[in-house]
Amino acid sequence: MQPLDEIAQPGSREREILERLDPHRLPRHVAIIMDGNGRWAQARGLPRVEGHRAGVRAVREVVETAARLGLEAITLYAFSTENWKRPRHEVLTLMALLEEYIGRELETMRSNNLRFRPIGRLDELDRSVQKALARAVAQTAACTGTVIQIALNYSGRQELTELVRAAVAEARLGAVAAEAVDEAWVEARLATSGLADPDLLIRTSGEQRISNFLLWQLAYTEIAFSPVLWPDFRQADLLEALVDYQQRERRFGGLAPQAGVLSAPGTARA
Ligand code: FPP
Repeated sequence: MQPLDEIAQPGSREREILERLDPHRLPRHVAIIMDGNGRWAQARGLPRVEGHRAGVRAVREVVETAARLGLEAITLYAFSTENWKRPRHEVLTLMALLEEYIGRELETMRSNNLRFRPIGRLDELDRSVQKALARAVAQTAACTGTVIQIALNYSGRQELTELVRAAVAEARLGAVAAEAVDEAWVEARLATSGLADPDLLIRTSGEQRISNFLLWQLAYTEIAFSPVLWPDFRQADLLEALVDYQQRERRFGGLAPQAGVLSAPGTARA
């Protein structure tokens, strides 16, 4: 974590929240369902796409804060496989905003040692978007700081379905025995492999659902629902969610430390 002065001005609301945050118990990985762009725009009599445009500012602020805090990873749900059902103009605008974002932020990501990692069915995206993503991946591949994982054309059910298909295909070829397909086998093949599962999931706009996001990875994730619409989500809102996270007692299906010895992960979960 950077010195407090570099994250927030003394006397500011952000600084007051930061002072309540324990730097030694930060989540390793925060996932966010960025919701409420459309309602934000509608409330202002603007077209929905203006909500997405305004949402990019929140993306930048949250990414910057995650990097300054030194989180291992942040995963943002930018486009679900279901989002193709939206009007073509809205889909095209979202893709254009993503390309613009990469174009504008790539150098900053590189100079701040951030690694860009898109997940989802990227091969179904427009060629120009695929090229921008590939460039960002290549140019940040050697970065060792916060991983900026963007879920695009992503569906948790699809991710797991593809894994089942791969297991069946490998088994048919004799490349894997059924009993070798265990949790570690699955985890090594998830889109998020190599990263810790999210410790905290934030969903904005007051909606309280997981919506096909990281279905395997969220099994033991703490969830925070924020009433704030995504374009209004600021550094202070993220910091508040982290303070709230630090009040939670994570038991992973075991018992609280004072009530008994914690059981090993993977046993007797509930
Ligand atoms: C959900 O709000 C938001 C999305 C489907 C898209 C999120 C995209 C961005 C914030 C901008 C581009 C992303 C990056 C990473 C640069 P909604 O439209 O479903 O809102 P509503 O529920 O109020 O209609």
